[in-house]
Amino acid sequence: MIKLLAHLAHLEVASPDVEASAAFYEAAFGLRVVDRDADGSVYLRCWGDYHPYSLVVSHGAEPALVTMAWRTTSPEALDEAGRRVEAKGVSGTWSDGRQGHGRSYRFTGPWGHTMELYYDVPRHSAPEELRSVFPDRPEKRSSHAAAPRFLDHVTIAASDVRGFCAWYSEVLGFRTMAFTDLDNAPVTVFGVITTNEKSHDLGVVLDSSTRGGRVNHIAFWTDSHQELLVAADVLMENGARIEYGPSIHGIGEQTYLYFREPSGLRIELNTGGYRNYVPDWVPHTWTPSEGSNSIYRNSVMPMSMTESFPPDPGRPTATEEGVLPGTEEALLNPYAVHGQG
Ligand SMILES: [Fe+2]
Repeated sequence: MIKLLAHLAHLEVASPDVEASAAFYEAAFGLRVVDRDADGSVYLRCWGDYHPYSLVVSHGAEPALVTMAWRTTSPEALDEAGRRVEAKGVSGTWSDGRQGHGRSYRFTGPWGHTMELYYDVPRHSAPEELRSVFPDRPEKRSSHAAAPRFLDHVTIAASDVRGFCAWYSEVLGFRTMAFTDLDNAPVTVFGVITTNEKSHDLGVVLDSSTRGGRVNHIAFWTDSHQELLVAADVLMENGARIEYGPSIHGIGEQTYLYFREPSGLRIELNTGGYRNYVPDWVPHTWTPSEGSNSIYRNSVMPMSMTESFPPDPGRPTATEEGVLPGTEEALLNPYAVHGQG
């Protein structure tokens, strides 16, 4: 198979209060609003994004992932990707172009997640006052101390982690990089797949709800551990509550920081991590006690981290305060340090 996908290009998320969410992304986190649609959608970018925007916030009754958009490696790869999806019995739609990018193929995968693929998209052209002195930078470094450089990844929720990873690897050529199984039960609760040298640009957490197409978090990148610590500080000064971190994942070895935007949607900022170019990589299966989530093996993730979006109406909602003991969510917590000695 030719390499089909180049990178995660943009995410569209829903918020019940688009302006409140957009204001948080811009004022508290340091993204920049670059456009607005007549329907009220707001387009935002990080200073280092090569294309005009990487995040669209549109109106929805609940926080949710509307679509995850990936750029293909070529126009031919776009055609081939569409053919491969259709050959699996999924029926998508072709568009001549929308939201500023060119011809695209949009489909909803077996676990309910809408994915859009396109190749033609303009390079970002910064306004004069934001031009960088460095030729390769799409615009000058943000002077906002928390500002991320790029969009990094998205982590969705699906009812079959290994099935999801296998489908997207087989059909679109993602490499499967790692899994987490519970220490005390043969249940796969986490998996990571990638289009590039990073451990993942698409993560999968186990979803035990009855809703399809849910998302656990969206993630942005900053250049260094020190910048991530400063971002945590600045976010707190801007009224954000840090949900988890900063610390380092075992899988991927990225430094992480999780917080929420006003809709409740979880955002991650991360940095560091290994590079892995191995074409025939065989994924290892970690357990939480090996540090899959927390490399130092000395912390348990707050139960609120298992919430995905939109919320599951049939289940108790984990609160910001932490664990709901005795619930199935606690058993299926993909990150808890079960069985640690
Ligand atoms: Fe993540």
